[in-house]
Amino acid sequence: MQTKPMQVLIAYHSDYGNTERMAKAIAAGIRATNPDVSIQLQKADETSPDDLVAADTILFGTPVHMGSMAWQMKKLIDDCAKLWMENALEGKVGGAFATGGGFGSAGGGVELTLASLHSNFLEHGMVVVGFPKTALGYADGGLQWGPYARTGNHEGMPAGITDAQLAAARSYGAHVIEVAERLSAD
Ligand SMILES: Cc1cc2nc3c(=O)[nH]c(=O)nc-3n(C[C@H](O)[C@H](O)[C@H](O)COP(=O)(O)O)c2cc1C
Repeated sequence: MQTKPMQVLIAYHSDYGNTERMAKAIAAGIRATNPDVSIQLQKADETSPDDLVAADTILFGTPVHMGSMAWQMKKLIDDCAKLWMENALEGKVGGAFATGGGFGSAGGGVELTLASLHSNFLEHGMVVVGFPKTALGYADGGLQWGPYARTGNHEGMPAGITDAQLAAARSYGAHVIEVAERLSAD
């Protein structure tokens, strides 16, 4: 049984606050499920490889930028490539979330974005936790890859995040920590 409190790192990029609100909602879902968990919530460009090494569970969040992740998130990922050489993240739990304007029915590239975050975690030998369709909020803010908030309206203009999408993010936080605790139990 793990004796020290579980450490969760939530690293995200956010220009206009949407992805940050998702990150905070995920943290709230974790805290509501287990108040003893230690949560480090911070911007990707303020995050170091050591922060990832110190965490048991690592969540990355990004807005979709031109069909892919924001460069600040990709920079963090590339800065952590040396950890791959050291197998330093192997066995840790990973998860991903995103927001995107989502103009049109193609969704603006969010699935590619989330899948590429998963791909990075899998490169490191981590265990990726998706978002099951039975979880609370999935229908309003879920993709199998993780929570997603479409933040644009039908004219392609910013419309913000809904309470239902934030509820899905909280639900994902609860799910991830439950899975992480099950994996760490003897
Ligand atoms: C440079 C840039 C590129 C963008 N490209 C996309 C895109 O390809 N697909 C999409 O769905 N949304 C795109 N958006 C919209 C953002 O993903 C969306 O507004 C997001 O919710 C912003 O998150 P933030 O408030 O955390 O910065 C783009 C926004 C910017 C600033």
